[in-house]
Amino acid sequence: MPAITLPESSPFLPLFEKMAAGEIISSLTAYDYPTARLLDEANIDFILVGDSLGMVFAGQDDTTGVTMDQMVYHTQVVARGVKKALLGADLPYHSYQSADEALKNARRLMEAGAHAVKLEGGTSQIDKVKHLTRHGIPMIGHIGMLPQRVREEGGYKKKGKTQDDADRLLRSAQDLEKAGAGAIVLESVVPAVAEKITTSLDIPTIGIGAGVDCDGQIRVIHDLLGAYPWFRPPFATAYADVAGDTVKAARAYIKEIQ
Ligand code: KIV
Repeated sequence: MPAITLPESSPFLPLFEKMAAGEIISSLTAYDYPTARLLDEANIDFILVGDSLGMVFAGQDDTTGVTMDQMVYHTQVVARGVKKALLGADLPYHSYQSADEALKNARRLMEAGAHAVKLEGGTSQIDKVKHLTRHGIPMIGHIGMLPQRVREEGGYKKKGKTQDDADRLLRSAQDLEKAGAGAIVLESVVPAVAEKITTSLDIPTIGIGAGVDCDGQIRVIHDLLGAYPWFRPPFATAYADVAGDTVKAARAYIKEIQ
């Protein structure tokens, strides 16, 4: 049983209950109302308005161009479709350069309908995470590969490959837990390191490209649906072919109206 006792009002409670029952927490991204409503009706535990929308929704090369106004808008439309799931929203790049800026922007996401807010980074962002949790913002951490830093890092690289990096990730995860985060996303982390982090924490870990030994898994909805055929990470299974079906439907319609 987790050592942390959450208040009844915590939005993370259902995730903790799943973890305590030994069930895997399910999570997907959503950026629009119908997708959010369908995922919620399918009983997904956690829906994230991820800033990955910059890529799979808006066609940008990476997530660094996503703005606060865009995140607020997408959070509002997704919130309309969510009745049961935990709804998280990302603080985009450059929206949390100081603790006060982080708080102001996190409040905008909460007012738009988010139940919790995620930002990227571990130990280096702890002051901001503490500031937000002290002000009552339920926080989700995100460590490992940080897409908002892709340009500085020169690509999407696996994290935790060296002992030093593995130790740094574990410290970051522990710092986030101590700072009051209710869950942590582990992105592109060596599976053995993700497992060690998961067993060392009382809060749930949600993995993406981090192996199976996390408390939950998250995927980008377009990858799951086969809706973004130009790129899909190798760990993401497509369970549908929305791209293929869209082209087929368009061609059938073109033919019908001739
Ligand atoms: O932006 C996003 O979609 C994310 C998930 C991949 C975890 O942060």
